[in-house]
Amino acid sequence: MLIAHLNRQRHEREAAGLWRQRRIAETACAPRQRVTDGRGVSADRLGFGSNDYLGLAAHPALVEALAEGARRWGVGSGASHLVCGHGRAHAELESLLADLYAPFVPDARALLFCSGFAANLALLTTLGDGSATIFADRLNHASLIDGGLLAAARMQRYPHGRLDILGERLATCRTPIRLIVTDAVFSMDGDVAALPALLALAEAHDAWLVVDDAHGFGVLGERGLGALEHFGLRSERLIYMGTLGKAAGVGGAFVAAHGEIIDALVQAGRSYVYTTALSPALTHALLASVNLIVGEEGAARRRLLEARVARLQAGLPPVLAREAPPAWRLAPSPTAIQPLIVGDNRSALALAAALDESGLWVPAIRPPTVPAGTARLRISLSAAHEEADVDQLCAALVRCIRPVVARQAMSLDAHDGERNFVEAHITPPSAPPERRAPGTGTGTGMEACAAGSGVTPDSASTAGASNRGRP
Ligand SMILES: Cc1ncc(COP(=O)(O)O)c(C=O)c1O
Repeated sequence: MLIAHLNRQRHEREAAGLWRQRRIAETACAPRQRVTDGRGVSADRLGFGSNDYLGLAAHPALVEALAEGARRWGVGSGASHLVCGHGRAHAELESLLADLYAPFVPDARALLFCSGFAANLALLTTLGDGSATIFADRLNHASLIDGGLLAAARMQRYPHGRLDILGERLATCRTPIRLIVTDAVFSMDGDVAALPALLALAEAHDAWLVVDDAHGFGVLGERGLGALEHFGLRSERLIYMGTLGKAAGVGGAFVAAHGEIIDALVQAGRSYVYTTALSPALTHALLASVNLIVGEEGAARRRLLEARVARLQAGLPPVLAREAPPAWRLAPSPTAIQPLIVGDNRSALALAAALDESGLWVPAIRPPTVPAGTARLRISLSAAHEEADVDQLCAALVRCIRPVVARQAMSLDAHDGERNFVEAHITPPSAPPERRAPGTGTGTGMEACAAGSGVTPDSASTAGASNRGRP
């Protein structure tokens, strides 16, 4: 029964252009990699998909630091932090991060996590108890959505960037604790949240601002300290989450916040307490990475990254204006994430496939990672890209766009499967689902979503449901 059930879902996904496949990178993370596809065929690719924004993932100094860390501390931590897995390397990195964030969060303390997903789950479930309301931007990352669903707090999702609506909801909120939760750089759109205005709202309404800076840490700000540094913010109400597997090139995450918040996470953050501590060797490599990020080399790499973004923003729009249907657009993003929004899944897949044939690896991103009808190529840039790499991408798009559009126009019923799948699985059921404890629901994604503790869908709940899986 289970296998037949899953098999039916597989066919529906395939028909909707939503089946996902992994590839195997045969070489280290870098713009140029050897890659093996699902059929076992290997080829060299120029990639625009990684979050290695500063090109540190295979940096010789970090490779050396990892080896040194392993020699010094061993590879594994052996246990969770509260049992006996918390080591000197963890303590040193937490202390470095606390010092770095003290200018933004007075008397900040820092806490390491194995991943950003784990950090967000811990944050929202620990702070979002029954006396809290979580206000979340509708385009927030999946980990923030899931954290809110697991929390006992009520969750209200406001339309992306609509601070007017958020303000109205805060003004009528009756719970004693209010948490505003936002991506700083939205992971699939690349736009930057209006953090100064969000902080002003938090201050005006006695709320706290949780900032997920997965895509800003290392990249934004003079020293790469992310969105808080970029905007020059300082407040006790800021709760900062930075990830260490993207620009920092390694893995893990941290929260920098008021000491009382850090203590609460240590005591009650289930995804902190009940998991093996980050590898001490990796933690040692992270010390080297964070020092590199805040130093001159980090600054030089940020300048390179900015130059690559500027190159793409100058080169791609004329290509789109000439070659692409009017609906295709480069989303307005000042960051390393430059989404080319195409619309339907099949066109996004076809464009990615055509680029692949030209030797380029640009991942197509589809629902539920992004709202239905906004499938895209998420072009992400890195300081490790050469100027010529960006030019190569633009030139390949010149060759690929028209044939892809022509082929898609010929397959008239291309979108039927997609529409059916979206209606069946991504749009919410019309009747409100029965309330269930999170994680015990047996229904569709949206039922599970609405079954979370008091989730209030916003005015566009259809699209709201569709981004349950934002990576
Ligand atoms: C905005 C955002 N938050 C959190 C995460 C999760 O971070 P990690 O990959 O360290 O689990 C991601 C990962 O893609 C992300 O994009």
